[in-house]
Amino acid sequence: KKRIAVMTSGGDAPGMNAAVRAVVRMSIAQGCEAYAIYEGYEGLVQGGKFIKRMHWEDVRGWLSEGGTLIGTARCKAFTERTGRLRGAKHLVLAGIDALVVCGGDGSLTGADIFRSEWPGLLAELTKLGEISEDQCSSFKTLNIVGLVGSIDNDMSSTDATIGAYSSLTRICQAVDFIDATAYSHSRAFVVEVMGRHCGWLALMAGLSTGADFVFLPEKPPQDKWEKEMCRIIKTVDPNPSTHPPIHRAAGKRKTIVIVAEGAIDRELKPITATYVRDILVDELRLDTRITTLGHVQRGGTACAFDRILATLQGEEAVKAVLESTPDIPSPMIAINENKITRKPLMDAVRLTKAVAECIKNKDFAGAMDLRDPEFEE
Ligand code: F6P
Repeated sequence: KKRIAVMTSGGDAPGMNAAVRAVVRMSIAQGCEAYAIYEGYEGLVQGGKFIKRMHWEDVRGWLSEGGTLIGTARCKAFTERTGRLRGAKHLVLAGIDALVVCGGDGSLTGADIFRSEWPGLLAELTKLGEISEDQCSSFKTLNIVGLVGSIDNDMSSTDATIGAYSSLTRICQAVDFIDATAYSHSRAFVVEVMGRHCGWLALMAGLSTGADFVFLPEKPPQDKWEKEMCRIIKTVDPNPSTHPPIHRAAGKRKTIVIVAEGAIDRELKPITATYVRDILVDELRLDTRITTLGHVQRGGTACAFDRILATLQGEEAVKAVLESTPDIPSPMIAINENKITRKPLMDAVRLTKAVAECIKNKDFAGAMDLRDPEFEE
């Protein structure tokens, strides 16, 4: 019987439990044995009690649980070959030769490196006498399949990552709550949202809450943006030449500015919530508060979309394991135009890294083009 293991790695994301549940149940339904590796790569490096056989009923009720019930970690040991050597030994001893990893680009890159090193790792383990020749020969290849779990929605080649829409929903609710108090006091709020170097959460939160101004890493504002932000916030009508600044006079009682945690200006200097607040206070005399949403954006139950996405992708991951051959590069399970698809994992990682590279080189048009080729200024 084929043995398929699933693990979650990197930052937790709502929907990861649904993904684990789907991989476990689909594996069993296909006549395979299912395993979970607890605590991400840390569990793989430690072995023993961290690698657990999973049965159908072990994942009962997991669709509606937030976070990841099998734990996750950002593991330093696995970034080194000695850590991966220990991981390989534990997989061979458990008889596992297929690994479904649910995590962000760093976690999926780690998985692909592991796969590429696999024959060398086994040869070394045999030489060291840690595994026998026989054990080695029955584990010639390691199948890796990536599921993208991250609230940031920062992976190229897929329209959505598992957890992003749950996080966005939470941000939307929080901004709605803030709206009520902002309106009551006629205040401005600067809301900082997560997303690391990706502005998807901030941009979509801005769209879905009708925010007055949004700061993103991929599209820094023009120089002297402070003036422009104040003009927009003061002006109700988009054409200020026909209407003078009438923010409060027009009865507009609240201002919401959303700042992505990775927001920068054109010189790559961070744009912080504090700086934006100071501008609103000094230039517009608005009574302004800052709300950093923090980890409430990541915890909590998954929205329906993420549960469905994770379930369909978990099922597809097991199919990909069963259909894999050594000549097919590790796949990443994606969603494109509402269809669950398979994409070469390392192409997606390469494109994701290219966005960061463009930003680092101040090629913001290039970054936007990679994020969305159809984007128009
Ligand atoms: O990648 C998910 C994420 O929540 C990012 O949005 C954020 O920058 C980071 O993880 C926070 O990491 P930690 O929980 O380790 O502080």
